[in-house]
Parts: sequence; C-alpha cells; structure tokens
Amino acid sequence: MLTGLGRTGARRETKLHRVTASPMRFKRLKEDIDSFMARDPAARSRLEVVLCYPGFHAILLYRVAHALWRRRFRLVARIVSQIARLLTGIEIHPGARIGARLVIDHGFGVVIGETSEIGDDVTLYQGVTLGGIAPSVDSHAQVDVKRHPTLRNGVIVGAGAHVLGPIIIGEGARIGANAVVSRDLPKGVTAVGIPAHPVMPRDRIAAQRFVAYGTPAEGCPDPVLATIESMRAQVTALQGRIGELEARLRRHEDTTDERAGEFVRRTADDAPVAAVGDRIRR
Ligand SMILES: CC(C)(COP(=O)(O)OP(=O)(O)OC[C@H]1O[C@@H](n2cnc3c(N)ncnc32)[C@H](O)[C@@H]1OP(=O)(O)O)[C@@H](O)C(=O)NCCC(=O)NCCS
Repeated sequence: MLTGLGRTGARRETKLHRVTASPMRFKRLKEDIDSFMARDPAARSRLEVVLCYPGFHAILLYRVAHALWRRRFRLVARIVSQIARLLTGIEIHPGARIGARLVIDHGFGVVIGETSEIGDDVTLYQGVTLGGIAPSVDSHAQVDVKRHPTLRNGVIVGAGAHVLGPIIIGEGARIGANAVVSRDLPKGVTAVGIPAHPVMPRDRIAAQRFVAYGTPAEGCPDPVLATIESMRAQVTALQGRIGELEARLRRHEDTTDERAGEFVRRTADDAPVAAVGDRIRR
C-alpha cells in the first residue's frame, strides 16, 4: 500500500516489500518442492525435483508469466508461457489463476486455459485439459468471458482427463484417468468415464466394517448408485439373517430327531410289558 506515504515513503515501502517478499517467495518455492515430494513416490530429493520435474519448471515459469500478465505485459507473458511449453510440454495460459502447491506430475500435454481457476493443493497428471467447450464457435463473443473450469482445493485430475466449460469441481473431488467432465462435480466425489459419472470407491476397509441398511452409501452423490448400494447392504443383511435362521432350524431339527429317536426306543422297550398286560387283562 503506497497511498499517503509520499514519494520517499513509497520508495522505502517498495524496498521493504522487496526484502519481505523474498522470504515469502522462498517459502512458496519450498512449499512447491515439498508438495512434489509429498505427492510423487518417485521423488527422492528436493534437488531431484528442482532438476528433473517439468511440472515444477512449468509452475515456476507460469508464476513469472502470470506476474507479467497482471502488469498488462500480455505479449511478453504469452512468450514466457510458450517458452515454458517448449521446454516442458505443459501449456499454462498466463491469465489462469493458480493457488499454492499445485503439482503437475509428468505433465506432458497438460493444457490450462486462460480463465481456469485452480485452488490450493491440486494435482494434475499428464494430458489433462482444462478447456472451453467450443472455443472455435463464435470466439469473439467468448473473449474475456469465463469459459474454463474452476478446480477447488485438493482436486485430483487423472491422466488424459478433460474438464470442459466454466464448471466447478468441488473440493477434494477426484477425476479418473481419461474421463471427460462437462458438469459440476460436488465436493469429495470420484468421477470416471465419458461422460464422467460418480462412482463409489472400492474401499475394502469400509466394506469390512460394514453397517447394514444403506450406511455405506453415505456421501455418494449419485441417487441411482446410492439406491443400489443401499439395496446391496440390505441383501447382505438379509443373507446374514437367513444364515442365522437356517442354523437355528438345523439345531432345532437335530433336537427333534434326537427326541423322536428316544421315544421310538422307549416304545420298543415297553412293547413286551404291554403285551403281557394285555394277556392278563384277557
Ligand atoms: C478415479 C480414481 C482416482 C479412483 O480411485 P479409487 O477411489 O481408488 O477407486 P477404485 O479403484 O476403488 O474404483 C472405483 C470404481 O471405478 C472404476 N474406475 C476407477 N478408475 C477408473 C477410470 N479411470 N476409468 C473408468 N473406471 C474407473 C473401477 O474399476 C471401480 O469400478 P468397480 O467398482 O465397478 O470395479 C483412479 O482410478 C484414477 O483414475 N486415478 C488417476 C491416476 C492417474 O492418472 N495416474 C497417472 C499416474 S502417471
């Protein structure tokens, strides 16, 4: 903030800003490197990330290009972004708005359009497109209009997936490799396929701590899937109940057989006595 300081004050403030901005920049850089380390099991050291990760290089150059773009050096910004593309195979439009700790893993073929917005801690794999639906149709009318997606914090977009249009991908949502998404996705959802549809994760631990009557369907945004999950839960519960009843029936039958056998045995033992009694009575 330079208002009300006068020229000397403003100069001092700018110097101060430069000094304080450096540790901030350094912190951000360190965060970027650490997020590659945290999200790529193949990353062995920070130096490896700095030297060998095109995603990291692309993000660094994007920051330069974006700063230029915001200062209205639009052509220079585009040139920097094209140099980054040439070096890394990742094309990020300098106008895109990207939060902290973005990881672009491998990254070749990633395209991030001009009006894309990316939150913090997002992960993109190679071949991802954050694009417009029909940029070539009536393109003049689309200038400076929001036409690319918004990815909220923690979103993961799998390799080769295309996210198209000014849609919103909710926080923590995961998009499967090769999916095509053209509609909003709610928070925390996993979506796969073309067109992308929500799926229930095959979480074996959750399956083990099974709770009857539809509880596993909790959090599933697709009503059809939620119904199927609920029915599956009920069928499993009924199977358990039937098994229990069958076991009780078997136990009951065994007891009845034993009693019947004893009765037959006793009747057979008493038969000669009964015959003598008959004879006496006669
Ligand atoms: C979408 C994704 C995140 C789901 O992971 P998850 O939550 O563990 O989900 P699951 O593996 O339990 O799969 C759930 C269902 O979706 C299906 N599925 C998973 N990923 C899919 C995909 N990309 N396309 C189509 N179906 C997919 C599974 O077959 C499963 O279906 P089923 O229940 O009928 O068997 C993951 O599969 C994925 O695609 N990640 C991208 C990773 C990537 O791009 N890696 C590149 C590294 S270089």
